[in-house]
Amino acid sequence: MKTLLVTGCAGFIGSNYCRYVLKRHPDVTICGLDALTYAGNLSTMEDLEATGRFRFFPGKIQDEVVVNGVISSQAVDTVVNFAAESHNDRSLLDAAAFIQTDVAGVFTLLEAVQRNNVKRMLHVSTDEVYGSATESSFTELTPLAPNTPYSASKAGGDMQVRAHHIAYHTPVTITRCGNNFGPFQYPEKLIPFFITRLLDHKKVPLYGDGSQVRDWVYVDDHCSGIHHALLHGFAGEVYNVGSRGECTNLEITKRLLELLDRPMEMIKFIEDPRGGSHDRRYSIDASKLQSIGWQPEFEFDKALEDTVRWYVDNQDWWRAITSRDDYRQFIERYYGRYLGEDL
Ligand code: NAD
Ligand code: DAU
Repeated sequence: MKTLLVTGCAGFIGSNYCRYVLKRHPDVTICGLDALTYAGNLSTMEDLEATGRFRFFPGKIQDEVVVNGVISSQAVDTVVNFAAESHNDRSLLDAAAFIQTDVAGVFTLLEAVQRNNVKRMLHVSTDEVYGSATESSFTELTPLAPNTPYSASKAGGDMQVRAHHIAYHTPVTITRCGNNFGPFQYPEKLIPFFITRLLDHKKVPLYGDGSQVRDWVYVDDHCSGIHHALLHGFAGEVYNVGSRGECTNLEITKRLLELLDRPMEMIKFIEDPRGGSHDRRYSIDASKLQSIGWQPEFEFDKALEDTVRWYVDNQDWWRAITSRDDYRQFIERYYGRYLGEDL
């Protein structure tokens, strides 16, 4: 691995992965490709560019000219795909971009990997492709049963990966992880949305009774899991990434209130905007990845505390987002009728 193409490098996990790799591999250069959608930020990549070993290319993963151009001109030998439309609530409003990026974009990358003889591709998927867990945890053999337009688009991308490997022996591996949290996460996802609202003394909208369970993973553990699967996993295989972080949304919210010293009255229980598509529980069995030598490192409470501190200390980063018209419009459009005067 000498020259890595990281797609989605201006987003949350993609940028953290670039940080992770640049720190550990002084001999590696990263080409970052990102379409700079609402979720991608130039400011998120400032420290990456300062290393001198990161070069940014603006563009869409479904644009074959751009993708083939970067891979061939930069002699890319490895591709890690983070680029995606990633938010369930937005997919319920309009799913078209999800299909373009999460399915057609993945196909374009696979074709380019094959055409340019790239040595290995890692496709970052999600535990949501399995649908909702009942008593047991998801293994890689759990059937796919996605319930939102977002998770269905991710499942579509996974199936393209599977078929490409079977049909053409394309050297590609999939990882599937649970809910991430950490620095640089766009403030629409539960944890950064609630932290940033609470810092501004605004109420937080908890869907239903808050009893849904998510399996939380600190972003650096996700990055190390992806990197381990890339270096030590097998092509054509799927590896779950998780650190046994199951917790209800209400528990997480109470923890955030404690950390930010806000009262329980800051929670506003709202009718569930996701309705029947809201998965009740995610639960990940990551023993397959552990059997090839990976271990998560981070302790949930400490990582959550560090994440809260990051948002307290980096208000310039997130206020540049929350003050934008497109951000406010989404919040008004999606939460207006539920939050009323607490918007
Ligand atoms: P994000 O929304 O923060 O970032 C996505 C990035 O992709 C943005 O920078 C955006 O500009 C870019 N992008 C979108 N469409 C593009 C396109 N067509 N071409 C090029 N770039 C495009 O998402 P994230 O939370 O960092 O998630 C990254 C990946 O990890 C996604 O594939 C997601 O499905 C997966 N994942 C996320 C989580 C999580 O909890 N956030 C958990 C498991 C898996
Ligand atoms: O499980 C992996 C997935 O985790 C990733 O594939 C997705 O990209 C990522 O966005 C995340 O999906 P979720 O839909 O689980 O994450 P989100 O942070 O949007 O919501 C987490 C839970 O919190 C979910 O049960 C809905 C609830 N919620 C969310 C928001 C934004 C609320 O109760 N109120 C809110 O305002």
